[in-house]
Amino acid sequence: MKIFLDTANISAIKMYNDMGLVDGITTNPSLMAKEGGDPQKVMEEIVQIIKGDVSLEVLSLETSGMLEEGRRLRKYGNNVVVKCPLTPEGLKACKILTSENIPVNVTLCFSVNQAILAAKAGAKYVSPFIGRLDDNGQDGMNLIREMHQVFENYKFSTQILVASVRHPMHVVEAAKIGADVVTLPPDVLGKMLKHPLTDVGLKNFLADWEKLKKENPNIK
Ligand code: E4P
Repeated sequence: MKIFLDTANISAIKMYNDMGLVDGITTNPSLMAKEGGDPQKVMEEIVQIIKGDVSLEVLSLETSGMLEEGRRLRKYGNNVVVKCPLTPEGLKACKILTSENIPVNVTLCFSVNQAILAAKAGAKYVSPFIGRLDDNGQDGMNLIREMHQVFENYKFSTQILVASVRHPMHVVEAAKIGADVVTLPPDVLGKMLKHPLTDVGLKNFLADWEKLKKENPNIK
């Protein structure tokens, strides 16, 4: 399972990338707005830092605008994946960009039917938003389960990119199902990393070593 970070925050991206944990990045207009500054510079910087796929989202609602934006975004680097919405116009843009060898992440997917159509349009990734489904009183993880079964049945090459992840158990469940990618807000990745027994264990190891050093002042 690949781990993407769902953020445009450069320091979080650098921090987790330095640990070797980041296979790619997903951004969206809200995440860009959260960081402020010049979004084009931020996008260019992310594309430089990360070797893996970086999803950058188009803002147009019409295919022609999406194509123009997508081709421009792709100039930032060969690792740019153009994020198009799961609309008729977005799927048309997906088909055309894919035919030009520009990979597409079809975003805002909320049903298996939509996911099938994204795969048929040639998307490299389709992004089901599980947290927003949960917020809406639906079972987000069940969508991942059903999508995985259908994609396996037909050996679709489109990758399931689990998005709108809210907590570490979402990650565990998505991994058990066999999702291709999870994209995580940095705080969820931080929570995955931490365990109180790790902290206690380390503290005790160091305390015991200090005791040993007191008994044997010559050891380093
Ligand atoms: C996916 O690519 C989106 O950026 C993201 O996961 C949206 O999540 P949210 O529901 O937390 O805004």
